[in-house]
Amino acid sequence: MKRLLEPELMIEPEQVSAYANADFDEPHSNFIRMLGSYYNSRGDLRTVLDLGCGPGDVTFKFAAAFPETIIDAVDGSKEMLDFANKILAEKPELHGRINYHHSMIQEFKSSPKYDLVFSNSLLHHLPDPMVLWNKIKEVSSPETYIFIMDLLRPETIEEAVKLKALYVRGEPEVLQKDFYNSLLAAFEIDEVREQLPQAGLGKLEVQQITDRHIIIFGQKS
Ligand SMILES: C[S@@+](CC[C@H](N)C(=O)[O-])C[C@H]1O[C@@H](n2cnc3c(N)ncnc32)[C@H](O)[C@@H]1O
Repeated sequence: MKRLLEPELMIEPEQVSAYANADFDEPHSNFIRMLGSYYNSRGDLRTVLDLGCGPGDVTFKFAAAFPETIIDAVDGSKEMLDFANKILAEKPELHGRINYHHSMIQEFKSSPKYDLVFSNSLLHHLPDPMVLWNKIKEVSSPETYIFIMDLLRPETIEEAVKLKALYVRGEPEVLQKDFYNSLLAAFEIDEVREQLPQAGLGKLEVQQITDRHIIIFGQKS
């Protein structure tokens, strides 16, 4: 099945509110658990970059699980960041540890190389996937640990319809529609495997971990 793009940024008020208020506790906690087990104390973890952070649920979960870290979190949607900053305002213990940046990732300027770069569910939004891989290359040293999770494009429309019924039935209509569109916009595993060497990230591992998710992880060299 051919890739079908969806709008890059999530800015529609109804869409943003449905996403920010959805219960993603299980997949997001899983993301943090997996990141922790793959990272497995490979070195001191201090500076972290979250690309396409949305309303910040993963960022907050990460900050709680890794209390020594300082996190830059970037999203091009002001509407999403308004949710993230509102929650941050209620968590004084995280002030100075999480900095939300309103920027497209391709325009985000950072001087230091990060100890860890992670991203959940951004890749499928990008018309050009190299935007993500080139940014990761730019902000990573050879020691930087990289952990990315995204959706996997199903082989057929029927499979996408099945996944939608299985995982988001009962959610608001707009969330169901977004999930379905995201599946159609996602990459196949072989496409991702072809993208990585083009950005000098050919050493990263790519694994399918569920019927709809892949992870891409490791170090640049
Ligand atoms: C599906 S959400 C994921 C949010 C968050 N990572 C999570 O797991 O809940 C994808 C986010 O990526 C943002 N986004 C898409 N393209 C972007 C780009 N080029 N630069 C910055 N943010 C982008 C969207 O605005 C949206 O907030």
